[in-house]
Amino acid sequence: MRRVAVINQKGGVGKTTTTVNLGAALARLGQRVLVCDLDPQCNLTVHLDIDPCAPEACIYDVLVGKAGLTDVARATDQDGLWVAPAGSDLAGVEVELASELGRELLLREAFDRDAAARELPYDFILVDCPPSLGLLALNALVACDEVLVPIQAEFFALQGLGKLLEVVDLVQRRLNPRLRISAMVSCRHDPSTNLSRQVIADVRDHFGKVLLDTVIRRNVKLAEAPSHGKTIFAYDPASRGAEDYLALAQEVIDLTTKSEPTVTAPTTTAKPVGNGHVTEPPPPATPPPTALRSTDGALPEAPDESGSRVAETTEETS
Ligand SMILES: Nc1ncnc2c1ncn2[C@@H]1O[C@H](COP(=O)(O)OP(=O)(O)OP(=O)(O)O)[C@@H](O)[C@H]1O
Ligand SMILES: [Mg+2]
Repeated sequence: MRRVAVINQKGGVGKTTTTVNLGAALARLGQRVLVCDLDPQCNLTVHLDIDPCAPEACIYDVLVGKAGLTDVARATDQDGLWVAPAGSDLAGVEVELASELGRELLLREAFDRDAAARELPYDFILVDCPPSLGLLALNALVACDEVLVPIQAEFFALQGLGKLLEVVDLVQRRLNPRLRISAMVSCRHDPSTNLSRQVIADVRDHFGKVLLDTVIRRNVKLAEAPSHGKTIFAYDPASRGAEDYLALAQEVIDLTTKSEPTVTAPTTTAKPVGNGHVTEPPPPATPPPTALRSTDGALPEAPDESGSRVAETTEETS
C-alpha cells in the first residue's frame, strides 16, 4: 500500500483537484484508493458531494481516536474509490490538540491500528493537506511514505518550496524515516506562456526526475466538476482534464518500477528574480539524507524537454 501526502503550503495550486482526480484515475486503472480530507476547508469532501456539516463520523473522529479509518471511509460513485471526509469540527483540531503529547503521530497511529486490526484494503491512500505546515500537515507527513507536491508554474512557484523541503527533511530524520518526496507535478499548467515554460525548465533543472513528465493543463471542466460534486471522470470523461489525470495516474503507478527519485537538500536560497526565473541555489552544506539521495550521491539529470507530455496549446473548454 502506498500512502501519499498531497502537500504544498501554497494555496490554490491544485492539491484538492489532484487528490480527487488522481484518486479517481488510479481507481479507473484498477487500483483501490482511499482519499482523505485533512483540510478544515473540507474542499475534497464537498468535491465528492458529501456535506461536511453532516453528523456522520469523519476524519476528526479518526484523529481523536473515536473511529478507525475504515469506519469513516465511504464508497463513492467511482468503483474502487473511497473517501474519508472532513467535517466542520476539523477546524478546531489544531487548537484542541495543542497540548496533546504525540499529537503529530495521531494519523499514523490510526493507520497502523487499522492495518493491524484488519488489513487496510487499499492500494493507495492519498491525503489532501491544508495550505499550511501546521499540525494537520505534520500528521500527514508522519503517516505517509511519499510526498506529492503539486506546483503552479508561475512567478511564485518556488517560494515556500524550500520551507516545505526543510520540513519534509526534518520529519524524515526525526519521525518518519520512510518519508520521501516522490513527485512534483505542474498543475493548472499553461504551456503557451514563456513564463510557464521557463519556470518548469528551472524546476526541472533543480529537481530533475522528481518533476513528473505529465502536466495538468488548465481545463475549465476541472474547475466545474467540484460544483457538481463529481470527479472529472464522472463529469466529463472526454475532457483534457480527464486525459491528464489518467496520464498522471499511470506515471505515479510506474514510479514504483523506476529508480528512486532524488531531491536535493532544502532550497531556501532559491529566489524568483525579475522575469520569474529561479536562481540556482548553492550546493547544500550537508549532504541530503540517504532516502533523498541517488546511490552515487549525484544530482539527477534534467529530462529532455522533448520527453514532456505538455500539449502545445492552452486548453480551456474541453
Ligand atoms: N487544471 C486546472 N484547470 C482549471 N482550474 C483548476 C485546475 N486545477 C485546479 N483548478 C481550480 O483552481 C482552484 C484551486 O484548486 P484546488 O482547490 O485544487 O487547490 P488547492 O491547492 O487544494 O487549494 P487550497 O490550498 O485552498 O487547499 C479551484 O477552483 C479548482 O477548481
Ligand atoms: Mg485544497
